[in-house]
Amino acid sequence: MNILIIGSGGREHALAWKIAQSPRASAIYCSPGNAGIAEVATCIGLDTGDHAAVIAFCRDMNIGLVVIGPEAPLVAGLADDLARAGIRHFGPSKAAAQLEGSKGFTKDLCREFAIPTGAYGRFTDAAAAKAYLAGRPMPIVVKADGLAAGKGVVIANDADEACAAIDACFGGAFGQAGAEVVIEDYLDGEEASFFALVDGRTAVPLAAAQDHKRVGDGDTGPNTGGMGAYSPAPVMTDRMIERTMEEIIKPTVAGMAARGMPFKGVLFAGLMITAKGPELIEYNVRFGDPECQVLMMRLESDLLDALIATADGTLDNLDLAWSDDAALTVVMAARGYPGTPEKGSEIRGLDAARGIENVEVFHAGTRRDGERIVANGGRVLCVTARGLSVAEAQAHAYRAVDCIDWPEGFCRRDIGWRAVAREKP
Ligand code: AMP
Ligand code: GLY
Repeated sequence: MNILIIGSGGREHALAWKIAQSPRASAIYCSPGNAGIAEVATCIGLDTGDHAAVIAFCRDMNIGLVVIGPEAPLVAGLADDLARAGIRHFGPSKAAAQLEGSKGFTKDLCREFAIPTGAYGRFTDAAAAKAYLAGRPMPIVVKADGLAAGKGVVIANDADEACAAIDACFGGAFGQAGAEVVIEDYLDGEEASFFALVDGRTAVPLAAAQDHKRVGDGDTGPNTGGMGAYSPAPVMTDRMIERTMEEIIKPTVAGMAARGMPFKGVLFAGLMITAKGPELIEYNVRFGDPECQVLMMRLESDLLDALIATADGTLDNLDLAWSDDAALTVVMAARGYPGTPEKGSEIRGLDAARGIENVEVFHAGTRRDGERIVANGGRVLCVTARGLSVAEAQAHAYRAVDCIDWPEGFCRRDIGWRAVAREKP
């Protein structure tokens, strides 16, 4: 089967790498891809906003499955247009992608189907939003309703900070995404990401992971797309996974079907494990980046079979095998990230890094320039390793990081610290 992957990040490199291992995979295309993806797929320059062009490519190349990596094309309805054209695809419809595209939509779904999450209010004007603050416990969380590239969330310690966040949102800080504001109670606990494949009716658990959102060691500095991740997440015990499936994932799948917008694809639940158990912070409707990289390192089953079963509605027959190993990924970013990154610097030592046992280097933002590989984005490499414990995976990953000769790049040196501390006897 020929496959088209949409996207250009470390997530898409990990998906392409794993799909390429499937005996059912023939030609793999990726648009736009990057220098690492080009080693396992043919990179092409489709305008993915032009759905007719994507459909024409799929027909010309006899594409049997389109895998949509990032949220933007999903929210723009690429899956709907592929469905109308009769082209098999992995990723939810525009209506179902509201689970990520509108925080208010998800909160209302939680309320209707009794899914545990923080108490909240939805507002379209500042006066009503500020009035809601009276009597709410502090800290409190102020969010832009729409997609704001991870920047639309403020944890306010008091009413003054909350009012400033409300004013910033309605003042246009996040454009149209901030036309509505969601205010929700602060949830206290440890965060985890949990992933499940969903075919509209059936949900199959994948695995849990933990991300490191802040740019600096010790979880300091501004938020990023994610500076590293590991899987499994020790806080997600078997019992916690079972509760997450029963209390959060399954009611969501049933609720979306009841609303006439069945969810198909991967559901990524951002959870807070509180004293009461798992509570939903937010949904994403795609694999996490860099969480996907560690999941793919641990998945032993054929990914392509799983993606096809999701698209075809046959997940009830799917059984997935996972390695008991831990996997950990360290993101190497270009200086300047998460602000404006410097582009174009040369990266050396990639082969030495990849030569270490149980290590894969997924490219997130690279470009080939003749013989050279150069940085071409904020997050540039995801140095990923497996080990018997998180500590061992961490040691392998940093050994590989230290092989990479790239003075213009940086990474956190403490990815996995929570899990490593727990593993200590
Ligand atoms: P979101 O974009 O909704 O995932 O929020 C970004 C980050 O803000 C989350 O990963 C959490 O660390 C934090 N956050 C969001 N909502 C809450 C909440 N209700 N309570 C505590 N932390 C939150
Ligand atoms: N790493 C978080 C995300 O993909 O949204």
